[in-house]
Amino acid sequence: KQTVKLGLMGFGTVGTGVVRIIQAHQEDLQKQTGLGIEIKRILVQDAEKTRSIPSMNSVLTTNASDLLDDPEIDVIVEVIGGISPAREYILAALERGKHVVTANKDLMALHGGEILQKAQEKGCDVYYEASVAGGIPILRALVEGFSSDRITKMMGIVNGTTNYILTKMSQDGADYSDVLKEAQALGYAEADPTSDVEGYDAARKMAILATLGFRVPMKLEDVDVKGISGVTKEDIAYGKKLGYEVKLLGLARRDGEAIEVSVQPTMVAKSHPLASVNGVFNAVYVHGEAVGETMFYGPGAGELPTATAVVSDLVTVVKNMKLGVNGRGMVAPYKEKILKDDKQ
Ligand code: NAP
Ligand code: HSE
Repeated sequence: KQTVKLGLMGFGTVGTGVVRIIQAHQEDLQKQTGLGIEIKRILVQDAEKTRSIPSMNSVLTTNASDLLDDPEIDVIVEVIGGISPAREYILAALERGKHVVTANKDLMALHGGEILQKAQEKGCDVYYEASVAGGIPILRALVEGFSSDRITKMMGIVNGTTNYILTKMSQDGADYSDVLKEAQALGYAEADPTSDVEGYDAARKMAILATLGFRVPMKLEDVDVKGISGVTKEDIAYGKKLGYEVKLLGLARRDGEAIEVSVQPTMVAKSHPLASVNGVFNAVYVHGEAVGETMFYGPGAGELPTATAVVSDLVTVVKNMKLGVNGRGMVAPYKEKILKDDKQ
């Protein structure tokens, strides 16, 4: 095999970034993997829409089976979002022995066990780095970087849209609804921005972080969630006077067997590094018993930062294909617990 053929599901903000990075970095990707990467088909909802990369018009389709039933397609990249039909498409791809890369935190937080189990059965890879904190490679850090340690606490600003809104309200006194529109126009917000502003998106990300970081399955319904829709300019101004910034903060803490995960607007002292995380930037603070304090920082949403994470996952899948070691991706070493829990 000289070239890996890719089926891209979704050609919106993230899908467009994926195409741009694959096109711009083709040679470098080939050097790293030893194989070329060809985007064979792109699934969209509306094939007539004007696209920012018209050269891909010839591979657009609205029929998922053009990707799923094409035996030449080795890898499916799912950047449609939402639960259905993304879940059905991913399961169908795995059933057919195709590897999967996804940016879908809704799906991985709710149905990660089912998807990873199917991947194990079929010897396929499923990677989902872009599902949490956009361009920050935090999932790899948790799974690989801290595999020797025991993580006791994670704190994160893991939603770019709300951080963008809170920053603009704090720095410019801007109106909540005007800034939300800006975040939507910039491609940061979810298709339904309720998930961003009500904290559900951050809750899904914290559930994924807790599952991978603490190596135990975390159920989404066990995350306490409060969003920012009730935060006023006055709250923010009052906090500032007292030396605080309001941030939508995710917290995941382990104390022995007890695990607590929450997302809520929090007054963060200006002296704390998380208070200076502004705009669409995210940050995840990780405390490990042996390593102590660490912090990861970078763009949490947007076309190219998010696509970087997706394409890096793709590179890993292709390298695994070359080595014949697929199916060991982000499941081990916590797979037994995830799978057991998902069956209950
Ligand atoms: P988006 O801009 O809304 O794009 C969605 C794409 O999926 C569009 O191309 C759309 O087709 C296609 N699509 C939607 N429903 C479909 C269906 N039923 N069948 C076929 N195609 C369908 O979304 P996005 O912002 O790129 O986000 C994609 C995923 O990445 C989501 O899971 C999101 O949570 C995640 N994510 C996004 C970001 C970000 O910064 N945007 C960051 C991290 C993770 P049309 O183009 O024809 O409408
Ligand atoms: N809507 C999400 C955010 C996209 O604003 O963080 C990145 O996951």
